[in-house]
Amino acid sequence: MAEAPLHVAIIMDGNGRWATRRLLPRVAGHKQGVDTLKRCVSACMERGIGVLTVFAFSSENWERPADEVSGLLDLLAGALSREVAELQANGVRLHFIGNRAALSAKVCQGFAQAEASTAHNARLVLNICFNYGGRWDIVQAAAKLAARGVPITEEALGAELSLAHVSPPDLLIRTGGEQRVSNFLLWQLAYSELYFCDTLWPDFDAAALDLALGSFSGRERRFGKTSAQISAQGSGDAPTQASRLAA
Ligand code: IPE
Ligand code: IPE
Ligand code: MG
Repeated sequence: MAEAPLHVAIIMDGNGRWATRRLLPRVAGHKQGVDTLKRCVSACMERGIGVLTVFAFSSENWERPADEVSGLLDLLAGALSREVAELQANGVRLHFIGNRAALSAKVCQGFAQAEASTAHNARLVLNICFNYGGRWDIVQAAAKLAARGVPITEEALGAELSLAHVSPPDLLIRTGGEQRVSNFLLWQLAYSELYFCDTLWPDFDAAALDLALGSFSGRERRFGKTSAQISAQGSGDAPTQASRLAA
């Protein structure tokens, strides 16, 4: 059965419902969600997960009411100024993934500073997807190849995608009860194990993470092969990031 996942991706959904159930404004749920993410980062590090990729704001989330969008942008700005030092001290390497064209110069500068100040860290790679869409990612990668006149192959396109610095997610978790991908990592999820839970993101704690990891550990990853082939080869796991880098 599958070994512990190297790369976990999470669609952090359910903040709005968490707040609404408490008669709070939706943005209060997003605020709580930031705290949940901080605890989740620690829990991932304690469990030896090497890469955590989280969906914080989708290409489509601009369609929300203006006060919610500005609340989310404010939370991002606050987190950039308050949280980076602690993440840096804890050995987290930050990457911000997504289309920066629509973001303010100040936010882009915050992204660049956070990435530069944590660039030498190796304990956990934390990819924060903000103004990210899987379709955007594939199109921007294809456009780069087209501009250089490079033929489009899986390898060439994969190298231009915004998560080219890590292996694909082994496990995708979506909280909040919906069972859809919502334009998250469309290319990279090709062989990820999918796990959906009803827990709303602000309530997602270490025990909920362990349930997801427990489900993952019982999966047989076949990558198109037969179960007999996987048993004969001894492990159904995808190559780890380390073995990929060594190859
Ligand atoms: C996820 O929570 C956070 C973002 C999309 C920014 P939601 O805000 O989608 O919460 P629900 O799904 O409305 O409960
Ligand atoms: C996906 O959640 C995006 C994030 C968690 C950032 P949504 O709440 O936007 O997804 P839909 O609209 O329910 O599919
Ligand atoms: Mg939602």
